Amino acid sequence: MKRSFIYCLTALWLTPTVLFSQVFSKTIGSPNGKVQVAVSLNEKGEAGYQVHYQGVPIVNHSALGLQLRDHDLTQNLVLVGHHTSTQKGVWKPVWGEVSEIQEHYNAISLDLKDAQGFQMSVVFRVFDDGVGFRYEFPQNQTIDSIVVLKETTTFQMQEDLQAWWAPSDWDSNEHTYSHSKLSAIDASRYRTDIEPFNQHIVNDRAVQTPVTMQTAAGTCIAIAEAALTDYGAMHLDVDGPTHRLSAHIIPSANPAVVSTNTLPFNTPWRCILTNASPAGLLSNHLILNLNEPCKIEGDLSWIQPQKYVGIWWEMHNGKSGWNYREKDGTLSTRHGATTQNVKKYLDFAANNGFAGVLVEGWNEGWDEWFNVDRSEVFDFTKPYPDYDMAEISRYAREKGVKIIVHHETASVVPSYERQMDSAFAYLKMNGFNAIKTGYVGFIQPKGAWHDGQSMVNHYNEVLRRAAKNEIMVCAHEPVRPSGLHRTWPNFMACEAARGMEYNAWSKGNDPSHELTLLFTRLLGGPMDYTPGIFQIAVNQFDPNKKERIHTTVAKQLALYVTLYSPLQMAADLPENYEKRPAVFQFIRDVPTDWSDTKILNAAIGDYVTIARRDKHSDNWFMGSMTDETPRRFKTKLDFLEKGKAYEATIYEDGPKADYQKDPYPVSIRKITVRKGQTLKINLAAGGGCAVSLKAL
Ligand code: NOJ
Ligand code: CA
Repeated sequence: MKRSFIYCLTALWLTPTVLFSQVFSKTIGSPNGKVQVAVSLNEKGEAGYQVHYQGVPIVNHSALGLQLRDHDLTQNLVLVGHHTSTQKGVWKPVWGEVSEIQEHYNAISLDLKDAQGFQMSVVFRVFDDGVGFRYEFPQNQTIDSIVVLKETTTFQMQEDLQAWWAPSDWDSNEHTYSHSKLSAIDASRYRTDIEPFNQHIVNDRAVQTPVTMQTAAGTCIAIAEAALTDYGAMHLDVDGPTHRLSAHIIPSANPAVVSTNTLPFNTPWRCILTNASPAGLLSNHLILNLNEPCKIEGDLSWIQPQKYVGIWWEMHNGKSGWNYREKDGTLSTRHGATTQNVKKYLDFAANNGFAGVLVEGWNEGWDEWFNVDRSEVFDFTKPYPDYDMAEISRYAREKGVKIIVHHETASVVPSYERQMDSAFAYLKMNGFNAIKTGYVGFIQPKGAWHDGQSMVNHYNEVLRRAAKNEIMVCAHEPVRPSGLHRTWPNFMACEAARGMEYNAWSKGNDPSHELTLLFTRLLGGPMDYTPGIFQIAVNQFDPNKKERIHTTVAKQLALYVTLYSPLQMAADLPENYEKRPAVFQFIRDVPTDWSDTKILNAAIGDYVTIARRDKHSDNWFMGSMTDETPRRFKTKLDFLEKGKAYEATIYEDGPKADYQKDPYPVSIRKITVRKGQTLKINLAAGGGCAVSLKAL
């Protein structure tokens, strides 16, 4: 109580210059008082806000507003009223990193109108771990449509912060990350990347969200969005000298940035996540809390977190291919999705406790899918002749495993929308309940972007229609997630960043990549990163291939714990796992749904150690990983249950392991441990460590 009062006072003391010109100003604190938000309206009728964390300003006075085609809501606004409220509750996610989430915030709604009487409210929710705000347009007013020309929200950062950022590409989020001061953000080097194939970078001084920053004192701040529906994704234009970030909404094919003709209408939530440490940032539930509760009714037992294998990596590493015919019309000798090969994977899945087998390249269309002028490429109900759907369906049922059906759309969105219902009916008829969608290439029809409103609506429509059909979704090449899996828990995972695949055919992902993803992209939701590659040099089927994964094998194990997803692939080939059964045991054992998560240590882009408790047993699992720097940690096992003994199986980098020189050695040892003991962990360069802690 006392502390929150002090924070509040500090917040007011630090802002006098802004307060003088305000006609309205109100400060609202989070439940524990650590986060303070001052909302204001000045003499020019401009709305603004600022944010303090633990008494220190983290966002200085910043602008709020929208320019609509028919209403300028950036100035000359009049305050109609304001009201505050408090929400305190606990909810249980269908799956996740924890089994219960506290939702506790204080809110203020600033109800404004323009000279014509058109109303808009700006609603702030202030949590102990950050702030969310959005613009709301109430129902009871007459307007044909809301056409947003520009959102004028800004985030005036306090100093020239360290930032971990990806370029503002309207069409792809599959770039590497950069780390620099805000003033040094410059994406020009990304323009010479040969991949991703469909890049569209308009402004070199702009970033995608989530973007994560850190002050000199160590406070972490991430700017993200929550509940991205019916709106373009928010990128941020960066003004280096002033450290001001300005919302930049990615436009749709429509000349307007965003348009809608239904009221009430809300923008997505603009989120400022904050914590005193990187570890605290990873325990943040603000984005999920700002999403609406689950909209899928009835029995949800068809939503099944799971591990899966698939006919996938063998296509990326050159063993097989997606296409059935070669360009000259002759049959391919390397088609991967054959009945026989699928059966091999189904056997492997059944023998090792995997619930799913992803199959790519099973349907008509792959022979010509990458044409520049793609129109109706794929048929989602027509398997290739060597893929016997009836037999695969029968065999899968016999084995108790389900196929995850791949729907690569090649971004020909109207074609997919036309076929979606029949495609869903077809996979249900065959006994399956999961799809992996894909949006490779420029969006068709041309002029729309992966991050624009029309595509956001498309991705969400797929989730809704899949939910109606009790189908789980894993989306590749979608917009970055914004916590919608609270509302649509059939949205298991998505890619929306640079995944493992890049290691197979490009310069790949450096050892800090996953350690940056965790603090940026993953804040919005799980990623289908596809870990678990044991064959680090990607030359198994082509001795000329120079590509490799920039990792040790032990780090591949750690990823199952550190990069949370309810859908985790064991991405390597069955034959590579069969060669190392003792190491593979960790992947067999690790669950994908957790009741508790503890972040034991963390530094953005450098290292992390996470412990998680299985939702369905008393077992704990730990993952620790580092960038290119070798590290030693002493980890206190404080999270274990008092009085219980645990059999710890420790999978760590072998004595000479090094991601460049020798990534393969993994030492495995077993010890009995109890709460309070310390575990010493050695991480090689580019290495990791995975531990299973089985309650005895
Ligand atoms: C890119 C996806 O990320 C990858 O997983 C898939 O194999 C290819 N597209 C083909 O659809
Ligand atoms: Ca991809």
